[in-house]
Amino acid sequence: MSGQVITVAQQKGGSGKTTTAVNLGVGLAALGHRVAFVDLDPQGSLGRWFMTRVETHPERVEGMEFATSSAWGISYEVRKMTADFDYVIVDTPPKADSDLRPALRVADLVIVPVSVSHVDLWATEGVLDLAQRENAGTLLVMNRTRAGTRLGADVAQAATQMDAAIAETGMANRVVYAESLGLGLGALEMPKGPAHAEVQALTAEVVQALSNG
Ligand SMILES: Nc1ncnc2c1ncn2[C@@H]1O[C@H](COP(=O)(O)OP(=O)(O)OP(=O)(O)O)[C@@H](O)[C@H]1O
Ligand SMILES: [Mg+2]
Repeated sequence: MSGQVITVAQQKGGSGKTTTAVNLGVGLAALGHRVAFVDLDPQGSLGRWFMTRVETHPERVEGMEFATSSAWGISYEVRKMTADFDYVIVDTPPKADSDLRPALRVADLVIVPVSVSHVDLWATEGVLDLAQRENAGTLLVMNRTRAGTRLGADVAQAATQMDAAIAETGMANRVVYAESLGLGLGALEMPKGPAHAEVQALTAEVVQALSNG
């Protein structure tokens, strides 16, 4: 059996790529899956998260793996990892250029977090365009949503005009997402709160999207 590859990409910095990669990974692991993370971002945030996890919660790293890769080495790295892991999650730098293409090419699904702002939405087209050229399926995930705001409704509405599927589940703007990241954890591993249901629902949607091919 060969694992599936999820690439998280978005040109806009700070949109929530690393947060999404972490929480999906932890969400999939909570379902009993083996999860590997690959960090393509020289900023190395995902690596810092993983190393923090190794140091403070070594038991939570069982069934997980981490690697860094160059943009062009990704296909080799991923091929090795899909032999041993159910899911390989690739975090990428905030760019939508030719360096991103190999990570899109190897993906079974490209997740594009869109922090709720028009600027983020505008930055989304570049990634969607590249993903389409690599024949990669895409799923937009709204991040830092604020229920009941005009902006949230506007951006959600504008997103439906784009040529991409939008996850039903978004991640609301919650301190627990930022806090957990710094602790080497996912929100699902923090005391129970509304983020738990969000991460579980988003994980289920992603599993479903992948099984639909
Ligand atoms: N839903 C959320 N609620 C609260 N804080 C969030 C949420 N999503 C992300 N953040 C915070 O916003 C910041 C940026 O998020 P993150 O690092 O995941 O974005 P990124 O797209 O990976 O950024 P970069 O482009 O620099 O790699 C982080 O401090 C993170 O903790
Ligand atoms: Mg990041």
